[in-house]
Amino acid sequence: MIIAIDGPAAAGKGTLARRLATKYGLALLDTGLLYRAVGVKVVGAGGDPEDAATATKVAQELEPRDLEAETLRSDEAAQAASKVSAIPGVRAALLQFQRDFAHHPPEGKNGTVLDGRDIGTVVCPDALAKLFVTASTEVRAHRRFKELQERELDAIYARVLEDMKERDARDSGRDVAPLEPAEDAFVLDTSDMDADAAFAAALDFVASKDRQDRVRLEPRRKHRE
Ligand code: DC
Repeated sequence: MIIAIDGPAAAGKGTLARRLATKYGLALLDTGLLYRAVGVKVVGAGGDPEDAATATKVAQELEPRDLEAETLRSDEAAQAASKVSAIPGVRAALLQFQRDFAHHPPEGKNGTVLDGRDIGTVVCPDALAKLFVTASTEVRAHRRFKELQERELDAIYARVLEDMKERDARDSGRDVAPLEPAEDAFVLDTSDMDADAAFAAALDFVASKDRQDRVRLEPRRKHRE
């Protein structure tokens, strides 16, 4: 089972992905971390995250320990990630790793949940269930602002909102694998939902896709028996 979850920042993708992975016994890949790791490494070495040659080389040489950097969750990392992710060479370098993980989950897992921006459209167009999780820009900026306050980090709402708009525009406007729902994605707007309601709606959708898939495969199974 592969579940693809796409959508803009702070829409609730991560929480949903974790809960679905636990429910179905699936491995989880937060693909944003890959782009964040590339961005952080380029900036950390004094490079420009919009420089294609530098960022592509870093993506090609990315190592598992790069995904453990403390700074990956910061807003600076998010902005750098958004910049490197518009570079075709960076996306190409990270594509195979994501596909391999999706199709060969660690032992004991029943499949994979991947969350990102292009999972349903590019990485796993064959996913069983595709969710596009979104919310209004203001709601997402408020969520992000609250999260920063809870972590006792200095934050100004207007600045958080502006950063969110800038990142949305870059992620949606790029030429390669822009943020957009797959044709067969279930669009889940969480603006007026709490995490439990969003999870319930996502579960209903995944269960319906799972049932459809079983019905589709049944004649073949019977034929084999
Ligand atoms: O999900 P996130 O906020 O950690 O993602 C950080 C940036 O990485 C995001 O602004 C765009 C990019 N990204 C991407 O282009 N494709 C993905 N599958 C995941 C993230």
